[in-house]
Amino acid sequence: MNLGTVGTGWITASFIEAAKLSGKFNLKAVYSRTADKAKELANTYNAAHYFTDLEEMAKSPEIQAVYIASPNSVHFEQALIFLRNKKHVICEKPIFSNTAELTAAYQIAEENGVYLFEAIRNIHTPNFQILKEKLHMAGNLRSAILPYMKYSSRYDLFLQGEEPNIFSSSFSGGALVDLGVYPLFLAVGLFGEPNKVTYYPVILRTGVDGSGTLILEYQDFVCTILCSKISDSELPCEIQGEQGTFVLEDAAPISQIKFIDSHTKESEIFSVSQEDKDMVYECINLAGIIETNNQEEYEKHKDWSEKVLRITEEARRQNSIVFGVER
Ligand SMILES: NC(=O)c1ccc[n+]([C@@H]2O[C@H](COP(=O)([O-])OP(=O)(O)OC[C@H]3O[C@@H](n4cnc5c(N)ncnc54)[C@H](OP(=O)(O)O)[C@@H]3O)[C@@H](O)[C@H]2O)c1
Repeated sequence: MNLGTVGTGWITASFIEAAKLSGKFNLKAVYSRTADKAKELANTYNAAHYFTDLEEMAKSPEIQAVYIASPNSVHFEQALIFLRNKKHVICEKPIFSNTAELTAAYQIAEENGVYLFEAIRNIHTPNFQILKEKLHMAGNLRSAILPYMKYSSRYDLFLQGEEPNIFSSSFSGGALVDLGVYPLFLAVGLFGEPNKVTYYPVILRTGVDGSGTLILEYQDFVCTILCSKISDSELPCEIQGEQGTFVLEDAAPISQIKFIDSHTKESEIFSVSQEDKDMVYECINLAGIIETNNQEEYEKHKDWSEKVLRITEEARRQNSIVFGVER
């Protein structure tokens, strides 16, 4: 499938490399707001075309799919341009600012006979599948603690008085939507939609969360998600049940999965070694859904993204975190 990309941050380069490794995509075109940057990216990865006009790129018969890695707040308007021109869209996480945008975009994708996906790398990996298959070994779940806390170099700029996009409400930023979504996708994928959601954020001067604790209440257990862009954590993830505990080295990528039996105290490693370019798994899976027109799998991913976005929206509502696109 011929691919175009939007945005020239490091993540775009990572996706292009993973897309190539997957054998599923040919990079044909890149977009940047600046001709020099577009040209440079096109040269680096041998893309035949570069654009500085999104509409023009969306109309190009040279591409069938686009990967969008721009600031969160512009995902929606950019995705619509491609969907309306019948291009499949793989949009970086968090897919959009709110569920109203998501519902509208899915509708437009359907009307145009194309697919719309959220690019969320950890849920496509072999280790996530293994975790899902083995989870029953924990018995009745009682607690899950899923941290994803990484001090951002952009926080240094924030402390110097700047407003990097990821700490800006105008660009739909904040710790929960930026990093919290990784453990949140795991939680929703493994445990389903919680009965109740409560978010305790640390709010920055820009009105978004620099860090926070998200409590997801399920029938007989509680899942705690810790996210931060203003502090680091060395904590692993744990999923505790009456029969045993799963310890994951990280929420994304899920590098190691250890199971410790509560009764025998014996431990076992279930994880496999994964590609360093771990976005390759999402490239293979998403291209597979498109190629085989796998509606069942598509609906599963739509539902997953909707549930996650509903949770982050509720968490923001509780704390009056309002994005620029909503004002
Ligand atoms: N999956 C992952 O592991 C991962 C990792 C990092 C980021 N992400 C996601 O990828 C997206 C981009 O993140 P980032 O940190 O690269 O963001 P960013 O640096 O703020 O912007 C990314 C690119 O978007 C373009 N851009 C910047 N400001 C813009 C504006 N006002 N309007 C339109 N385009 C603009 C720029 O490209 P041009 O100047 O060339 O147009 C820039 O290189 C986010 O949604 C983020 O959550 C995902």
